[in-house]
Amino acid sequence: MAAEAEALDKHAPAKEYSDTLFLESFSKNIREDLWANTTFYTFTNFVLQGTKDNTLGGASVLDLGCGDGMFTRWAAAQGASKVVGIDLSEEQIAVASKMDDGHHSAGIEYHAKDVMDIRTPEYGEFDVIIAVHLICYADNPEKLQRMLQAVSLCLKKGGRCIGVRECLNSALKGPVSMKMKEEIKNGPMLAYQIIPQSDEIVESKDCDDFCACINEFRNSDGSIIKFTNYVVKESTMIKMFNDAGFEVNTCGPILTCSPEGKKMFPADFIDKVTNDFGKLLWYFDITKL
Ligand SMILES: C[S@@+](CC[C@H](N)C(=O)[O-])C[C@H]1O[C@@H](n2cnc3c(N)ncnc32)[C@H](O)[C@@H]1O
Repeated sequence: MAAEAEALDKHAPAKEYSDTLFLESFSKNIREDLWANTTFYTFTNFVLQGTKDNTLGGASVLDLGCGDGMFTRWAAAQGASKVVGIDLSEEQIAVASKMDDGHHSAGIEYHAKDVMDIRTPEYGEFDVIIAVHLICYADNPEKLQRMLQAVSLCLKKGGRCIGVRECLNSALKGPVSMKMKEEIKNGPMLAYQIIPQSDEIVESKDCDDFCACINEFRNSDGSIIKFTNYVVKESTMIKMFNDAGFEVNTCGPILTCSPEGKKMFPADFIDKVTNDFGKLLWYFDITKL
């Protein structure tokens, strides 16, 4: 394959993140109350719970697939001594850098780079790596393995990588069983729908590793964002972590809602979000051996 075509193919899974309109909608979505009180709340607590003193104070932190830098800024605000954000999308890095204008003195550094192209610890070796919805963009085992090698290269021995990825939930027999659509009256309207890419998968009830999933989210203003990523079975993921030299400390679905969020949304809706949708979100905490 010619080099240009090969690069296009390699980046195809995450191509939306270079589209300005998509990015505007995506940014809006992740600043919605529901996202902030569930995903952001769960992940940030998950990171801190795994530290000795419930803080990132003094730690060096690398945010892989940092997007517009929401978790990168959060890590800096937690007192991390060095914070670096990496993303494939130059557009996302430009947004993150702009949002961080006042933070550069706090040590945040951004680089536009494909994680799969990290072949040496060129940004240093870190205590903690954050990888929120990154490895679900690997659409085949080789790419997933490359991403995990990059994580390993950038971590100190004994360092932790904490992340989230969509997965095929064994109990649900794949995202096919997972269809969720909720509308909240007298409040924001939100919809999550994780649907397989083809009718064929709906019929078969069994999704294979690396099958494509369309994620559809409706923002509170009614606009829709839709993107595709790639899911694997839990057993596949654990094996790949182990093969790449990691010990798995924790993994599995743990999506929860903050006490404030519970006051904002009806209880049955939050139950569906955390239990049904949450089953597809796999939080992991791994240590480099
Ligand atoms: C769902 S967004 C998550 C952004 C951010 N982590 C957050 O949670 O707000 C996924 C990000 O991963 C980036 N990405 C996907 N594949 C990548 C790769 N191979 N190397 C670096 N970044 C990648 C995309 O450009 C996108 O910004």
